[in-house]
Amino acid sequence: MATVPHLMTLADLSPRQITRILTQAHHLKHRSLPWLAPQQYKPSGKRVKLRLPSQSLFNKSIALLFSKRSTRTRVAAETAALLLGGRALFLGKEDIQLGVNESARDTAAVIGGMCQGIFARVGEHAEIEELAKYSPVPVLNALSSLWHPTQILADLLTLHEHAHLFDPTLQPLRVDERSRIAPLPNLRPLTIAYVGDSANVLHDMLVTYPRLGHSLRVATPPQSAYQAPEAVWNRVVELQCDKGIWWGTDPREAVKGADVVVTDTWISMGQEAEKEQRLKDFQGYQVTEALCREGGANPDWKFLHCLPRKAHEVDDDVFYGGRSLVFPEAENRKWTIMAAFDLLFGKWNLGEDQALS
Ligand code: CP
Ligand code: NVA
Repeated sequence: MATVPHLMTLADLSPRQITRILTQAHHLKHRSLPWLAPQQYKPSGKRVKLRLPSQSLFNKSIALLFSKRSTRTRVAAETAALLLGGRALFLGKEDIQLGVNESARDTAAVIGGMCQGIFARVGEHAEIEELAKYSPVPVLNALSSLWHPTQILADLLTLHEHAHLFDPTLQPLRVDERSRIAPLPNLRPLTIAYVGDSANVLHDMLVTYPRLGHSLRVATPPQSAYQAPEAVWNRVVELQCDKGIWWGTDPREAVKGADVVVTDTWISMGQEAEKEQRLKDFQGYQVTEALCREGGANPDWKFLHCLPRKAHEVDDDVFYGGRSLVFPEAENRKWTIMAAFDLLFGKWNLGEDQALS
């Protein structure tokens, strides 16, 4: 029997596989958009037959096993499954027996007997490892204490789509052609700065960006609570990503030469009791125009944030301003999750050469 493919972090994938998911996401997006909003896609005078994207989940069910809140990941997953011809079942922690009356092992075996994939958002990372160990169907990480792989897929798709902002020789990507899908633009090597907490979003950046040729500059507060956990750093070193990472405590130094500045919440889900202490420890880490100017960021720097966002980590001027790519980034959660569902749950094949459908 084939080994069940699971995806816990982008560290599990080669750069080629990551690129393959992005290419598939781009393809699925531009195959789906005209279908969803034909009135917005009218190339001059042409009559073009609309084609549905891959129906690899036709008649299949995907369990969304979420023990934490979600807006983007949940909506992305439910709408993506529908477009692939399948059905997503949202199973929140109040809905099922998991964690109260039933173990992860038994839950994985039972759900895996009825559904063709499990997209799981958990607390401790060990919980999703346990699900994957006993699941007969692929398990995809929808966020754990350590990793958030589907977020970084969306960030990468967004950066590729906006490659022209970082390279004046490139034209903006045309998205209004339904007869032809333009290739996803290549991205020049970027300097990406992260200012904030060492949490799941940063961790997947650490194991991904350096392998794709980008350099990362990170500033977190000096306390040990804000450094990468050993399990994460071991993967960073194993993949030789540490060579492409500068890590310090001064946000101004971190944004030096940055083409992209990224942050995340200072208080991740489950850390609410630490709020007061964290707000103190992160003083001076708010992303603002002044911080990036004083630190010497590229004058054209752009901003990413996984959302949900609080104003203390990034002010309104940046968040809602012209540098911000946060809403295209949020939408791209859908297309990248759709690609991951298609390849992982539909085709059991993350990124090998396959015809696009
Ligand atoms: N970025 C992200 O994962 O958002 P949600 O928590 O709303 O899913
Ligand atoms: N680090 C945040 C990400 C939310 C999408 C959290 O875990 O809550």
